[in-house]
This record gives sequence, structure tokens and C-alpha cells, in this order.
Amino acid sequence: MTAPRILVVQGGVACRGSVRTPGEKSISHRAVLFAALAEGTSAIYGLSDGADVAATLAAVEAMGAQVERASDGSVRIRGGRSRLHQPDHPLDCGNSGTSMRLLAGVVAGFAWETTLLGDESLSARPMDRVAEPLARMGATVEGRGDDCRPPLRVRGGALQGIDWTTEVASAQVKSAILLAGLAAVGPTVVREAVTTRAHTEEMLAEAGVRLSVEPWGDGRVVTLHPSALLPVTPRHVPGDPSASAFFVVAGCVVPDSRVEVEGIYRGPARLGYISVLQRMGAQVTVTPAPDGTATITATSAARPHDTLTATTVAAAEIPSLDEIPALAVAAAMARGTTVFSDVGELRVKEVDRLAAVVAMVQAFGATAHVEGDTLSITGAAALHGARFDSQGDHRMAMAAAVAALAAVPGERSLITGFGAVETSYPRFADDLAHLTGDDPLAPRALVIAIDGPAGAGKSTVSKAVAAHLGLDRLDTGAMYRSVAARALALDIPPDDHDAVAALAAGAEIEVGARVVIDGHDVTGVIRSPEVGRAVSDVAANADVRSALVLRQRAWAKAHGGGVVEGRDIGSVVFPHAQVKVYLTASPEERARRRRDESPAGVARRDRIDSTRAASPLAEADDAHRLDTTGRSVQDVVEEVLSWL
Ligand code: DC
Repeated sequence: MTAPRILVVQGGVACRGSVRTPGEKSISHRAVLFAALAEGTSAIYGLSDGADVAATLAAVEAMGAQVERASDGSVRIRGGRSRLHQPDHPLDCGNSGTSMRLLAGVVAGFAWETTLLGDESLSARPMDRVAEPLARMGATVEGRGDDCRPPLRVRGGALQGIDWTTEVASAQVKSAILLAGLAAVGPTVVREAVTTRAHTEEMLAEAGVRLSVEPWGDGRVVTLHPSALLPVTPRHVPGDPSASAFFVVAGCVVPDSRVEVEGIYRGPARLGYISVLQRMGAQVTVTPAPDGTATITATSAARPHDTLTATTVAAAEIPSLDEIPALAVAAAMARGTTVFSDVGELRVKEVDRLAAVVAMVQAFGATAHVEGDTLSITGAAALHGARFDSQGDHRMAMAAAVAALAAVPGERSLITGFGAVETSYPRFADDLAHLTGDDPLAPRALVIAIDGPAGAGKSTVSKAVAAHLGLDRLDTGAMYRSVAARALALDIPPDDHDAVAALAAGAEIEVGARVVIDGHDVTGVIRSPEVGRAVSDVAANADVRSALVLRQRAWAKAHGGGVVEGRDIGSVVFPHAQVKVYLTASPEERARRRRDESPAGVARRDRIDSTRAASPLAEADDAHRLDTTGRSVQDVVEEVLSWL
């Protein structure tokens, strides 16, 4: 399964029901690293399935830990300091700042030289905040520029404990120092003026590492004693509170909603966003569960704007700032101006998230501006459907989906770059759709269905539309043709219903740049006159159709939506396709475009295709009909795109 590339959301569809978020990301990263350092095999249940944690997993594998996915859903990691070795290639942290900062702390404790890489956005993020303390401990850390941007080269070895006061409130920096401190000589002390996420110290204490946490001004001081040998500790990763914020805010801002998010981590400094929502007048409750997690329930009235009021949010309430994009949506629906102070750190997240939040709020029709490090959002009585691009930021993609649901009923939003959710929450759109029930207007991946007779221009148009939107394209005609080609190769008469149906049901078909069926590349033959003659019989076979329709739907799931061309796409395969196009052209023009086939052949195929019993060529009721005769490709494509 792949997350939708472009998510289409209809405003005003109430959210009702219960969801669970993926495993808490911060705990997941740490569980993986501690398991890699622990002597023996550790089992981790509920590990986050996002790309960030996958990057940490791949890194520990490259360092010699053995990673296995067990049948009970757990991930098993066999590790230990003695097992780990210098990786023979740079460790790719992808988009994950947590992976890079925590791994820097881990590898600093080994006498290796390790390079840590990131994608374009991670490569622009400052690493001096970890480089400086690690260097003070005795490691050499090199990056680009004054703020030590990735790639990072870390030469570790004999470390000395330090007493360090963090300048920026950052659990990642604290954790990097503590992880390095495990392998240092003497105690390591980290002082933070603002309390940040405490997972590292909590999990290390659970594993039996000697450490103490004391209050220090408004923050805390953590003192850790080195512990080269970590014991194996089985872990159940609770649900991610930052991810819960999107559903909880949906429960507050989408009219008539009631949302329950279960199994959520309820440690300190993680549910600050709930106090903010409660101050705004939202109906949100936290119920502790016996297993140490929490169930969060949010309900909304018929007109959320009347019940939500603006508030003031201090950055210290939301230490990681991860919940600001979701809270911004609540602020955009509240009466008055909500002020978020000291949120300048948002500028150095996956994208300039401060600018992205402003753009999102404005796109949906509320007002936002930034002065210095203060973000102000003035709510609107109603949000409006909008087009918004995540710029590759998972939290912006999810927040925008919630804003889009809160928009005026019937107004449609398009969220491009939605695939960014793979970073932390690949199933987000499915879980959101679960809350909106079976509603035909539930949030869904964009599918553009292009139907029409032979020679109407489907292939050319669908290719150009897909390229323009960054979507994949599926030529379903090539699927039917591949079955016809294979039947001919196997001497199965095309009208032998049962034999062709059995062939289609069992075949593995790949339709892309090459068309391959059961390992046979048929790209060259599917356009031959023989296949052209055989394919109508094959396509008239109802059992062949059922088998291929299932594959076509699976293709869209696996590709995050797409542009699909055929004869029955808008009517049968994707009745919920958000854009349906029925292309036609005059018979003369179609014959001209299909020069490889005789006019009589094309006419015969059209006749069979539109008169057969099983889902004949049909124009869906809600399709846009477009006659391409005499029109340029660009012109037609622009018209199709205008229907978005
Ligand atoms: O698009 P095309 O000419 O390559 O299609 C080949 C045949 O497959 C055509 O005769 C109709 C049939 N077809 C179909 O019945 N349903 C589809 N979704 C796609 C093609």
C-alpha cells in the first residue's frame, strides 16, 4: 500500500469513530537504538511503520544488528556492542532529523568513522547543536558551514562525560549526548531550561541504566552514569500523541464529530496540545487506560466556530512544536486571534513550517501572519476548499487534510504532495476515511478515470495528465491485450470462456513501460492485428473482467491513486473517481489515429465493446464528455486539469 499522492477531501463530512495511531515515533527510534546496543535479541511491539523509523532500522542493520519482522507483528533486533561494527557505507537518515541526531550520539561512542547523510531538506538542517557537545566529549564531528549541516562525519572513540546546558530546547540533542554518555568515562550531565520529551531517560532508566532526573529552574537536569552493557528489554510502543493531534483536532473542528483515539502515550510534555484545545473551549477528554496509555475523546457541535475561542500558546507548552500545524487548524476555526509565541524553531523543521502553516491557514480562508518568532492566526467563520501542497512535509499534509474536512460542506480540497505522510504515518488517509465512514465523499486518493472508444485520444491525454500531476498512469486496455496475447501464444481460442478466464485469474500482469504477463514480455505483440482481433472476445468475458478489475483497483492502492484509462473505469472500476472524462472523436479522426488498424477492424471492436453484456463501453453519468476532434493535446489536457 502507498499513501495517496494527491488527497481529495470534501468539506463537512463528520468524523465519527475510533482510531489508533502508529507507534510513537520518538519511542520507536529509541527502542531500535537501545535494542541495537543491548546484548541479545529484543522484541519491539507496535513499532512505527513510517519511513523515519525505517531509516533508523536500516542504519542499525548497516552497523551489524540483525533485524527481523516476526509473525506476531513485532520487530526483533539482535544487537550488542560486540556485534556492531563500522558501517561500510554512509548511513542514510532520509528525512529524519531524529535518526541523524540520535545516531550521531550512538556512533560517537565507537572508535569508527561514520558518515550520516540526509535528503535535501535534512541536509539543510543545523547539526551544530549536537556536534558541539559531542566534540566536547572527545568525538570529531564535521559538517557543512557554520551550523554544521549534513552530511555529518563522526569520528568517535574514547569519550569523556560532560556537564552540558542545551541552548535550544531539544530532546534530540539531549538524547544524543546521553547516548554518547553511555560509552563515556565518568557521568554525563545535561541541563535543559525547558523540559523536553523524556523518552530517552525514561527508557534508559527502564533498562536499568543508573541516571537521575532533578528539577532545574523551569526545566530539568539529567545525570547519567555510563553503562556500556545494556540489557535486553522487551517493549510495547504506545500510540503516537503527535499523530493523535490531527484526529483530535478533526473531532473539534469538523461539525457533529465524535472521535476517539486509543492507546496513546501519555508521558510528560506530550499532551500539552490538549490543554490548549480545552482552553479554546473544545470538548476534549483524556481517559487513562490500565496499560498506561490514554484514550482521547473529542466532540464537536454543529457550528464549531461558535464554540471555539482564541487563546495564547507558549512554545514551552508544545516543546517539540510538532502539534502546531494541527493546532493552527483549530485556531483557523476559532473566534479571535490565537497567538503562538517563540515558535521560530518551526523554520528549521522538515520545511520552513512557519511559512507553511501561514500558507495553509490562508489557503483555507483564515488569516495568519508572523512577526519575529510569533505566529498569529485569526479564525474565520467558515473555511473554504483549497488546493494546498505539503512541500514534502508530513505534518503539513495531515493538518491540511483536517482543515479540508472542516471546510464548508460540498467544497472540495486537493492536497498535493500528500505522499509525504509516509514519513510518519503511511495509513493516515485510510484511518481518516475510517472516521468518515463509508461516505462516498470520504477523503480519497485522486483517481482520474479516462474512458472512450478506440482512437479518442485516451493514451495521449492520460499520459500528459499523469505527467503534469506527478501521478502514475494505468492503461487497462494493455491488460486485456496482454491476456489476449498470452491466450494466442498458448493456443487458447479467445472465445474459450473458461480457459481464458482461468488464464486471467491466475496471471501475474505488469503494465508499465513494458507489458509483461507471467514473465513473458508482450510489449511488442499487444498492438498486433492478431491481438487486436482477439481482444474484444477476451474483454467481453465477464470472468476475465472481474479478475482484471480487482487488479486495477489494487494497482491504484499500490500507486497512491493515478490516471486510469479504459472503457469502464468511471462506471465500474472506480465509481468514486473524483474526475471522470469521456473522450470521443469523429469516426474519421479516430480511424486516422488508429492507422495501424483497418477502419473496419476499429468499427468492429467498438461495436463489440459497446454492445457486450459485461460492463460495455459506457459514459458514466457524472463524466465530463470531451470531443477531441481537431483539438490540440495541450488544449484537451488543460480542460481536463480544469475539472480538478
Ligand atoms: O484501449 P485499447 O484499444 O488498448 O483496448 C483494448 C481492448 O480492451 C478494447 O477492445 C476494449 C477492451 N477494454 C475494455 O473492455 N475495458 C477496459 N477498461 C479497457 C479495454
